[in-house]
Amino acid sequence: MEKLIESMLEAGEILRKGYESVKEVRHKGTVDLVTQYDVMVEEFLKERLFRHFPEYTLIGEESSKESERASKAIYIDPIDGTTNFVHKIPFCAVSVGVWEDGVPVVGVVYNPILNELFYAKRGEGAFLNGKKVCVTDTSDLQQSLLSTGFPYTKVEMGEDFRWVIETMKNLLPFTQDIRRLGSAAIDLCYVARGTFDGFYECNLKPWDVAAGILLVEEAGGRVSNHKGDPYSLSDHIIVASNGKNHDALVEKLASYGED
Ligand code: IPD
Ligand code: CA
Ligand code: CA
Repeated sequence: MEKLIESMLEAGEILRKGYESVKEVRHKGTVDLVTQYDVMVEEFLKERLFRHFPEYTLIGEESSKESERASKAIYIDPIDGTTNFVHKIPFCAVSVGVWEDGVPVVGVVYNPILNELFYAKRGEGAFLNGKKVCVTDTSDLQQSLLSTGFPYTKVEMGEDFRWVIETMKNLLPFTQDIRRLGSAAIDLCYVARGTFDGFYECNLKPWDVAAGILLVEEAGGRVSNHKGDPYSLSDHIIVASNGKNHDALVEKLASYGED
C-alpha cells in the first residue's frame, strides 16, 4: 500500500502540472479525448508498478484492450475525467485498482487538484486523506442524491443512449436529484464518503471502476449490476449505493437493463 500510494502521489503530480498547462488534445472517438498527460501518467505508473509488483498484469486505458483480464491484475486509469481535465473542471483523478481472482483487494483514487486521496484495502475500511469514511444511511430513494455519467457511445444514438434517457425518465422524479460529475472513479469515491447516496452508469470500463468499487464496499455500501447481482467487470451496467436504498434503485433501473 505504501509503495502504491507513493507512486500515486507522483502520478498525481504529473496530472496536476498538466492541469495548469497547455495540452495537446487528440480525439479517440467523436467526443472521447486524450492528452499527452493521460499517456505520460499511464507510462509512469506502468513502469513504476511493474518494478514494485512484477507478478501483476498491468491493464491501462491508453495501452490495453478493455477485454483484457488476468487473475492478478492492476487496472490503471491515468486520468479519469479527461474531459474535465481539458476544460479545467477540478474533478479528475488517477485511479488504480488491484484485483485478484475477480475480487478487488486494493483501490486508490487520487485527485491532486482537490487534494483528495481515497484508498481502501479489502477488510480494512475505506479512507480519505487518512480518515475513515462511510456511506450515508438514507434509505428513501426520494431523499437520495444520486450521480451518473453518460457513455461516449451516446453520439451513436443507439441502445446506450436510449437507456440513459429512459432511465432518467423513470428515475429522476423519484430522487432528490441526479448529478453528472464527469469521473466515474470519483463518483464511486463520493458514494463511499457519503457525498452521494448512490451512483449508476452504463458502458464503463474496468479501469473506470476497479478502484472505486472497493472504496464503496469498504465504506459499507453495495455494488451490483442492474439486476442486483454482484458486479463483475464485464457487466454493462453498474449500480453503487449506500446499500439501504439499493433495492429501490435497482428496481427503477431493472426494467431498462440489458442482459
Ligand atoms: C470517463 C469518466 C466519465 C464517464 C465516462 C468515462 P475518462 O472516463 O469516468 O465520468 O461518464 O463513461 O469513460 O474517459 O475520462 O477516463
Ligand atoms: Ca475513465
Ligand atoms: Ca481515462
